[in-house]
Amino acid sequence: MYCTRKIYDDIIWVGADNRRLKLFEAVYNVPRGISYNSYLILDEKTALIDTADRAVTDTFIENVEHTLGGRALDYLVVQHMEPDHSATLLDVLLRHPECTVVCNKMTLDMIKAFKGTEVKALTVKEGDVLDLGKHKLTFVSAPMVHWPEVMVTFDTATGTLFSADAFGTFGALNGALFADEVDFDRDYLDEARRYYCNIVGKYGMQVEKLLGKASALDIKMICPLHGFVWRENIDYYVNKYVHWAGYKPEEQGVVIAYASVYGNTENAANVLACRLLEMGIKCVMHDVSVSEHSAIIADCFKCSHLVFASMTYNGGVFVNMENLLRDLAAHALKGRKIALIESGSWALTAGKGMREILSSLKDTEFISDDISFKSSLGAEGEELIDKLAHRIKESI
Ligand code: FEO
Repeated sequence: MYCTRKIYDDIIWVGADNRRLKLFEAVYNVPRGISYNSYLILDEKTALIDTADRAVTDTFIENVEHTLGGRALDYLVVQHMEPDHSATLLDVLLRHPECTVVCNKMTLDMIKAFKGTEVKALTVKEGDVLDLGKHKLTFVSAPMVHWPEVMVTFDTATGTLFSADAFGTFGALNGALFADEVDFDRDYLDEARRYYCNIVGKYGMQVEKLLGKASALDIKMICPLHGFVWRENIDYYVNKYVHWAGYKPEEQGVVIAYASVYGNTENAANVLACRLLEMGIKCVMHDVSVSEHSAIIADCFKCSHLVFASMTYNGGVFVNMENLLRDLAAHALKGRKIALIESGSWALTAGKGMREILSSLKDTEFISDDISFKSSLGAEGEELIDKLAHRIKESI
């Protein structure tokens, strides 16, 4: 049974949810699922905007065929070749040999590379217009948001921006299509941030370029490839992207991420959190062996100050902390104030190791000397934590 929703009478969402996926991109837990969005425009000419992941093939194809209602598919616009949006491309083309793929040159090369076959194609570049009748689609290149071939599509007739991966979120749609049908800020913003920071967080400069191009368009609707369609309060979400793309913290607050085997480093982290809260400073805590690393990274994008505490392990940084910090460095976060806490019972090397990894972050300030303690915090260590809390307060 088909399952579609109308955006306008002649623009139909034909995507699908997947709530069984364990790991998105084989690395990110998605306990609330994911949606793969695809949009079908029924004008004098018909155009499908992207396809969907292999996991939802049957639903997706049924949605497309039902919505076409026996009409030909004139165009398939391929904005992004990552397989979560292109795996079913040939499934569509085999059913619709009349269809012309509309894409840029790099995408055409990727189709050949992924699919091993040529397709009937119309190559477009930025500014080109595809006339469907009432709807006129114009194309805007958006390289590295999130792959190099990405382009987005603007329908000048309705002010609809088909934004590819930009403005997406983790989480299945669960029957809702529009962001105003849910309490997005309460229930989805954290997942949207986790999606942004981990999927395209490294490419802030390129996202800013796309935001600059988008600001010249009269956008009334945003249709991403994951998550909700935006038709109200668009500025709210665009402003979030302005913060995230510019690596600007949304909050003056502290992320305390710690690695602790027997609880002594955790105790130091807890003491610091108590001091900060007593001073009215917001903080969020993560055990790096328990929390999803993508969620910690999202909090690091959100907050102004980061404290990492690790015991020494195998003569260096504890493995889960090392993995987190390398992931953070790979996502190119910048502009944060950082403090480090190290512990160890016979060697104290974790601080040096953490500092080495984090030194690659740009515009980063280490706001205090590293705090070191042996085995357990003790009175001397408590004093150092107290000083660190005051130092953080001064720097907020
Ligand atoms: Fe949702 Fe970059 O693909």
